[in-house]
Amino acid sequence: MRGGLGLAALALLCLCAGLRGTAADEHNHRYQVGDTVTLWVNKVGPYNNPQETYNYYLLPFCKPKPADKLRHKWGGLGEVLQGNELIDSQLELKFRTDMPKRDICTMTLDDDKVEDFTEAVRRHYWYEFFADELPIWGFVGPPPEQTKGDSNVYIYTHKTFDIAYNGDRIIHINLTSESPQPLVSGATLSFTYQVQWKASSIPFVRRFERYLDFNFFEHQIHWFSISNSFMMVIFLTGLVSMILLRTLRKDYARYTQRGDHDDLESLERDMNEESGWKLVHGDVFRPPNYLELLSAFVGTGMQLALLVLSVILITIAGTLFVERGTIVTVFIICYALTSFVGGYVSGGYYARNEGKNWIQTMLLTACAFPVSCFSIAFVLNTIAIFYQSLAAVPFGSIVIVLLIWMFISFPLCLFGTVVGRNWAGAPDHPCRVKRIPSPIPDKKWFLRPAVIAFVGGLLPFGSIFIEMYFIFTSFWNYKVYYVYGFFLLVFLILLIVTVCVTIVGTYFLLNAENYHWHWTAFSAGASTSVYVMLYSIHYFVVKTKMTGFFQTAFYFGYTLMFCLGLSIMCGAVGYLGSLMFVRRIFHGLKCD
Ligand SMILES: *[C@@H]1O[C@H](CO)[C@@H](O)[C@H](O)[C@H]1NC(C)=O
Repeated sequence: MRGGLGLAALALLCLCAGLRGTAADEHNHRYQVGDTVTLWVNKVGPYNNPQETYNYYLLPFCKPKPADKLRHKWGGLGEVLQGNELIDSQLELKFRTDMPKRDICTMTLDDDKVEDFTEAVRRHYWYEFFADELPIWGFVGPPPEQTKGDSNVYIYTHKTFDIAYNGDRIIHINLTSESPQPLVSGATLSFTYQVQWKASSIPFVRRFERYLDFNFFEHQIHWFSISNSFMMVIFLTGLVSMILLRTLRKDYARYTQRGDHDDLESLERDMNEESGWKLVHGDVFRPPNYLELLSAFVGTGMQLALLVLSVILITIAGTLFVERGTIVTVFIICYALTSFVGGYVSGGYYARNEGKNWIQTMLLTACAFPVSCFSIAFVLNTIAIFYQSLAAVPFGSIVIVLLIWMFISFPLCLFGTVVGRNWAGAPDHPCRVKRIPSPIPDKKWFLRPAVIAFVGGLLPFGSIFIEMYFIFTSFWNYKVYYVYGFFLLVFLILLIVTVCVTIVGTYFLLNAENYHWHWTAFSAGASTSVYVMLYSIHYFVVKTKMTGFFQTAFYFGYTLMFCLGLSIMCGAVGYLGSLMFVRRIFHGLKCD
């Protein structure tokens, strides 16, 4: 056990070291004239398939020598998980030193090389370099549509780096690819590059703004959708408070009236009012079916909500979007640390419902979500290995993630369960549960649990779907998502709308004298992700040009993981909101 803890601590240290810290110059981003600036090559792949990426040297480009000793850069866990592998290109690049055209290498094309390059150009391969942590992109060759009517396919053989500097800092880098040459077997191509430096007045702190698409993210539509969602929130909270006021006021009115005129008339009115939700007071706190599973979901959902909130806040505080992979690393660490909350909520809830299956509940809380995600990731990883893609996560990184889960997340969840059971586990239902369950009357179709559950997700989805468009577009279409303030707002709106909708749904259900509200409330929140899934199919068909099995599998695999987390989170938040509502309205009622 102690060895394991040591290992986990070591893993965490590696992670944190990976957050920052590489070579000295790149670390502080300051250079003297003539200092070497390392040009790292990263990945290459079809432009339309963002996850289908390969090692740059998988294409027969000129390799640095010796070819078996490539210098790699370790950039932290998140970077590796996102499918990056930086290799020193060993192209000479000196700070503020212009370099006239010079050779990278000369190669004679054989059939294999021609075939590889042709395929790459046909599928719009592009590649990514990094210098001083700035990304540089270029296409392998001119798109075949451009050279229509010509039987040859072309490859760019000359690269021009235009680098802007400000004092001892690098501000931005332009790459221009030129002199396309036909890919013909037996031809000899010489690959060349040149470097030009140019002074710039842009301050270093603003150099990343070039990669942010202000027009896209701060478009009127975005603001409009936020204000729209706000209206929805106001309307829904109004509705919920009206329901609350109505139910509660009647109770209070009855209490005060009872003293003054105890006549037949008011008694009769009381009798009439004793319908709807009040009738189920003996059953409404009956423990739900599959209590273990519901406890686990409620715990995990609260953990996820807290996790998303903390990741957003950390990202806003640290403008982390400028660094490769950092958000993923933060996400993993925060997941491990918030496991305590998951255990606490789940344990407390389970104890309040007098559950006895502790081990099962704890295991479900700790494992259900991570194991589902691991399984999806495992399938995707197998596909990636089969395709020799960079998206395949190396074995070492998998081990680190597993160690973090085993030695930080799991024990914290266990500890949280114990604490929750002892501190928040006293049963405290406002009404006693009757021994014999009442029958449930048959009601109209729209008051059936399945209908309420399914309709419940519509409004929460409506409040986030514009944001979904922005998130999907940045994830699948190479835009840097930087508007985390919007994200935070939309996240809060989503939570509020989910809670309100579930409360309204629960109220209708109880009024129909159906006391099976637990899973209905949970599903009403969770069904949001069904709509997100449907939307993602629409997005895939209409908005992206992805092709091939590899990218399709990754698209839907990632979406599935996302929807899984979203459904558990929304379900839990909605359920806990309804639980508070139900406790509140029955609190004012004299149960027996
Ligand atoms: C890079 O390209 C942009 C846009 O075309 C241009 O404004 C900028 O001056 C270029 N930078 C250098 C160093 O050439």
